Parts: sequence; structure tokens; C-alpha cells
Amino acid sequence: MKTILSNNKTPITFISVFLVAIVIMLLSSFGRAGRENNANEVDTLKGLKDFYKDYFPIGVAVAPNNLVGEQAEMIKKNFNSLTPENVMKPALIHPAENKYFWDDADKIVEFAQSNGMKVRGHTLCWHGQTGAWMFKDSIGKQVTKEVALARLKDHITQVVSRYKGKVYAWDVLNEAIVDDNDSSKVYRDSPWYKICGEEFIAKAFQWAHEADPKAVLFYNDYNTEVPVKRDKIYNMLKKLLKAGVPVNAIGLQGHWHTDDPSEQNLRDAIDKFSSLGLKVQVTEFDVTIYTSKTDTINIGFTPEREQKQIDFYKMAFKVLREKKDLITGVTFWNVSDRRSWLDRPNKKSYPLLFDENLKPKKAYWEVVKF
Ligand code: G3I
Repeated sequence: MKTILSNNKTPITFISVFLVAIVIMLLSSFGRAGRENNANEVDTLKGLKDFYKDYFPIGVAVAPNNLVGEQAEMIKKNFNSLTPENVMKPALIHPAENKYFWDDADKIVEFAQSNGMKVRGHTLCWHGQTGAWMFKDSIGKQVTKEVALARLKDHITQVVSRYKGKVYAWDVLNEAIVDDNDSSKVYRDSPWYKICGEEFIAKAFQWAHEADPKAVLFYNDYNTEVPVKRDKIYNMLKKLLKAGVPVNAIGLQGHWHTDDPSEQNLRDAIDKFSSLGLKVQVTEFDVTIYTSKTDTINIGFTPEREQKQIDFYKMAFKVLREKKDLITGVTFWNVSDRRSWLDRPNKKSYPLLFDENLKPKKAYWEVVKF
């Protein structure tokens, strides 16, 4: 062998160069074919946030355990804003009177800061995930309005002050409007409303503003495209603005499914809220493949359901891009189909743009094709 090599350098070198050239050609044509299948030549090195850099920040709701390993890398590539999915909620960050637990929320804020990402704070005042202690006295009796408001003030002041300058936007008030089709019923019958009446709403925004005057303050809700509920929210916000309450923006949560909302209802909601001078964000975007809450059978990610989801995502992002001057952020609620808050034992919802292996789905390639 040694003799052959030393005696016949020219033909061997020629054959090697020829073979290498063929391998390079084959590899590059496989690469092209892969990209064409996926995305009509879109740049696969870019992340979702990069495609939308001239439109709006793209966020994701996270738990601290999402911020390590491959998920952390995938988040850094695709998103430039974080929302803590649970750990800033009252029950978790303020588990008892005079007791705050900051560690988990701090981890998310620190990760965002070290990676140049924004943070949306979620949420200061809500009927859900709020410790029962907030509404009870030492013998378990419901507290007075004065005590409830004093506790809310302490909560908002402590939490907003801690993250002043680090959290750029707060969901101050979450889901205070009722889902009832009866337009005379406006407010949700939450402990806050039962104890304080409407007063807690304006106060919550005022206290958040006092704690961080630069923070963008949101009212955040779901079903914001359903005309009856949309109009109740609109009327509440209009009244607050007229009274000088520092509410700056509205969060359309965006827990949508493939049949709802219609394009027209989505457009109308964005236009109507914007007409009040409020900025609009989609704060909790996901699109379950199930068409209604009664759709209980685990049908799985069938080609038909996948196509409907692709069509919905295309429609929604087309509208959001067209209205980019009104939209200041779009945040997904969870990282990938590996885990969604919508999943139940034996019933997965596949609501996001990344699959269980953290890879872009077909819907992703449609959302970045424009
Ligand atoms: O942390 C406990 C864990 O210790 C325990 O082992 C486990 C057993 O079920 O429960 C864990 O807590 C769960 C928590 O999520 C963290 O995973 C709660 O049971 C569960 O109820 C909670 O659900 C959250 C839900 O809000 C509560 O209403 C979801 O993760 C969260 O995505 C969801 O987010 C809300 C937004 O804040 C407001 N808009 C609607 C949206 C979806 O419901």
C-alpha cells in the first residue's frame, strides 16, 4: 500500500479531490432540499424573534426549570421576552402575610437580564393562585375592605419595587370581567370584588404606578375577541382612563383554538382597544387542536387538525403583522408541545409552534414566511 501511494500520487490525489467534490455537492443539495421542504428557503439559523425583529418582541412563558440545558438554548434562540408562567403569582411569591418567596422569580429575571431579554410580570391581582390568607383574618373570618386593600397595596408595592427597572410591563389586573353573555353582569364575583367592590381595580393600577412609574401597566384577559365580553372590558377601561387611572395597555391572552376567534373578531378587538390609546399585546398565545372544551376525546395531532392549526396561526400572525403599530409584543404560553398547561392525562393539545423535540412545526414555517 505504502509503495502504491508513494509511486502514484497524482491519480490518487485526483480521485480524492473528485470524491470530496461529489460529497460536498451531495451534502449541499440535501441541505437545500431540507430547507425547501420546510420553509421555502427561509434562514434556518434565525430564531422566531429574528424574523419578527421589525414587528414586535416574541415572548414565552417559563418556569425556572425551562431555563437549563437544551430548552434554555432553544429559548435564547427564539424569544426575546420572558413571562414567569406561575412563580410571580400572589400565592407563590407571597405565600403568607409578611412572607415573600423571591428565589424562583429572581432566577427568571436574572436569566432574562443575562441574555438581553425583556420581562413581563404576571400577575399582581387575580382571583386565581392567590393565597386564601389574603382574604381571611387570624380566626378565618373574611377581612374587611380596608384590610383587603391594605394587603393588596403591600403586595403590589413590594413585588413591583423589587423588580423596578427589570420588569418592563406588569399584568396588574387579570381576568376581572365575567364571561356571562348578560351584558348587565360586568365584574367577576371574585373575593376581591366581593370584599372591595370596584374600588380595588383603580387602586391596583395606582399602586403599581407609584412603585414603578415607568412600567407599562396591563389589564389582561381571555375571550377578549368575544363581542359581549370585549365590550364590557372596553367600557371598564374607558371609565378607568377617564378617571385618570394609569392603565396603559391590554393583554389579549390568546388562548385560542383552530375555529375561534374569527379573523374579523380578532381585527375588531385590536382596533377597538387601540381606539382608547392603549397598546395591545397577545400575552398567552396558544392554539389548541381541540375545537371546544367539550371535545374530550384524545384525537391526537392528526393531519386534518394540524392543517387547521397551520391555517389559524397563519391568519393570526398576518393580522398581527398588519397591525404592528398597535401591537407591542406577542408571548407564547409555554415553550413547546413537550408541555402545555392545556395537557391532561391522555389528552395532549399540541398548541405551540415547537414540537415535543423542541423543533419548529409546519405552522412555525408558515408564521415566518412573509
Ligand atoms: O406546583 C405544584 C406541584 O408542586 C404539584 O406537584 C402539582 C400537582 O398537580 O401542581 C403544581 O402546581 C400547578 C401549577 O400550575 C404549576 O405547574 C397547579 O396545580 C396548576 O393549577 C397550575 O396551573 C396553572 C394555572 O394558570 C392555574 O390557574 C398553569 O400552570 C398556568 O399556565 C396557568 O396560567 C394561566 C394564566 O396565569 C392566566 N391566564 C390563564 C392561564 C391558563 O390557565
